[in-house]
Amino acid sequence: MNAPQQSKQPESILHPEKPFPEDERDGALRPRLLSEFIGQERMKANLADYIRAARGRGESLDHVFLSGPPGLGKTTLARIIAAEMGVEFIETSAPALDKPKDLVGILTNLKSRSVFFIDEIHRLKPVIEEMLYIAMEDYALDWVIGQGPAARTIRVPVPAFTLTGATTKAGMVTSPLISRFGITCRLSLYETADIQTIIQRSAAIMKVAIDDDASAKLASCSRFTPRITNRLLRRMRDFAQVKKKPSITLDVIEEGLERLEIDSLGLERLDREILRMIIERYGGGPVGADTLAISVGEAVDTLEDFYEPFLIQAGLIQRTPRGRTVTPLAYKHLGIAPRTGALFGAAGE
Ligand SMILES: Nc1ncnc2c1ncn2[C@@H]1O[C@H](COP(=O)(O)OP(=O)(O)OP(=O)(O)O)[C@@H](O)[C@H]1O
Ligand SMILES: [Mg+2]
Repeated sequence: MNAPQQSKQPESILHPEKPFPEDERDGALRPRLLSEFIGQERMKANLADYIRAARGRGESLDHVFLSGPPGLGKTTLARIIAAEMGVEFIETSAPALDKPKDLVGILTNLKSRSVFFIDEIHRLKPVIEEMLYIAMEDYALDWVIGQGPAARTIRVPVPAFTLTGATTKAGMVTSPLISRFGITCRLSLYETADIQTIIQRSAAIMKVAIDDDASAKLASCSRFTPRITNRLLRRMRDFAQVKKKPSITLDVIEEGLERLEIDSLGLERLDREILRMIIERYGGGPVGADTLAISVGEAVDTLEDFYEPFLIQAGLIQRTPRGRTVTPLAYKHLGIAPRTGALFGAAGE
């Protein structure tokens, strides 16, 4: 009788006996109070005073408009505002407000001074937007009851509340809506030093040590964006842990960035593809955003919201009225010689 053959299991690359819970995702890393929110100092200082003053008067905070590229902290700030005001936070997004009754349902159930957050506020339907005008100005809703000739409008009061609207596309928000926000916060890409502070804060929350030169390197490759910083830090923690390193060192970061195809300026593969496309197919530009988006197989929104702000901030492309052009730095970074007589003439060599 043969002993049952122990079939050799393929070796798992993971270690199920030692699971590493990724419970410190954004929830734990997200700052909860203004004092934990790093960078954007001028905006933060102003906001702190507006909140202090509104609290002092026992009033709701004026409506707040938050704009800026993805991952810079708009949703985080909206939550912080509610926390600092000591009021409830109600969250929705413009596409979810389909019918007037959706908005009526939310507004009539708010508590006094609540923060009502609408994400992607550039996507409001006109009928909802018009209802919001009155709600923002007069804390009331005009509600049509009945139909045909018997229809009449009744004005329903709503509690004094703070509307916080967030968008990555401030240019697409109508001026009547923008003008009803008393406070405007435009978040800009972060300074590298602030990103490094965010790395240190996140690493402390994740209970992982990171060397100073390692956090400086990671900061310089984080696209000036806290969400990307945290995402990269989690991956570097994985690499360090698997290598059984007691801390995240510079060589872990350097190797990790290479494995993720992120280069010395923090460019990912698609960033480089965008630059190469402008250079190789469009002679360095100018090329329109739509054409460029099709060429690299991305949605024009993604190109404009996510890739361009970073490439512009990094000094690699310029937005001109006729389209996008690459800068001499882009040629240098990709190691491509500019064509003589093209963008920069002989001086570009
Ligand atoms: N100033 C900051 N200090 C520390 N961490 C930050 C800061 N801003 C953002 N973060 C981190 O970055 C993450 C992304 O921020 P958030 O979700 O608020 O961005 P967003 O602007 O709302 O992005 P989107 O446009 O995609 O909705 C947060 O969960 C938080 O961990
Ligand atoms: Mg958000």
